Amino acid sequence: MGFVIAVDGPAASGKGTIAVKLGALYGYPVLDSGLLYRAVGVKVLERGQDLGDPAAALAAAATLDPAELERPEVRTRRAGEAASRVAVYPAVRDALRDFQLDFAAREPGAVIDGRDIGTVIAPHAPAKLYVTATPETRAQRRWKQLTGQGEAVSFEDILADIRVRDERDSARADSPMTMAADAVLLDTTEMTIDAAFDAARRIVETARSRWETARG
Ligand code: C5P
Repeated sequence: MGFVIAVDGPAASGKGTIAVKLGALYGYPVLDSGLLYRAVGVKVLERGQDLGDPAAALAAAATLDPAELERPEVRTRRAGEAASRVAVYPAVRDALRDFQLDFAAREPGAVIDGRDIGTVIAPHAPAKLYVTATPETRAQRRWKQLTGQGEAVSFEDILADIRVRDERDSARADSPMTMAADAVLLDTTEMTIDAAFDAARRIVETARSRWETARG
């Protein structure tokens, strides 16, 4: 495994922005694993199937084409909601695992953001961040992003979405919202993007020195 940077955390915590900036800094490819679940959810909806049907979700996951991650439809509020519904099915998570494992195996390194990267996908990642912020702050950020994309949504509805999503993402015993024991917690509530990235960069630099020393 190269230098994998796992960036986990709840919806709209800032982890995606941090992951992209870290990728640019190190010249590593970046995978937003949430897009996989979003693409599966969107596919189920577009096929006119039920998000409550695990077989339909599995069929969508098993035939997922990476090009589907690039579609603007996967970045909508509806896609985020659908993603968190299909993400509860263990068979869907299994079907999406190999793609993420292949990405994590890229040399000389990769950045992956999600929920379970540091715990399930890349438990041996040399650098792990768990990025969080209060629900209100995250809702504010998501609201700005969605209205910026032209979606007509209210702040209150987005805050309600975030709360439902947190609940759904953490309800299961094998919750993907569990922070890895060796991850470093980064609360970005009071931070600007620049400050959050700076803090993340310092955490990763420390992890990198440790990793290089261990490799000899
Ligand atoms: O991060 P994002 O908001 O795009 O993720 C959408 C949904 O996909 C999450 O609410 C979660 O249910 C699911 N997800 C997951 N595991 C990941 C990434 C996303 O379960 N690694």
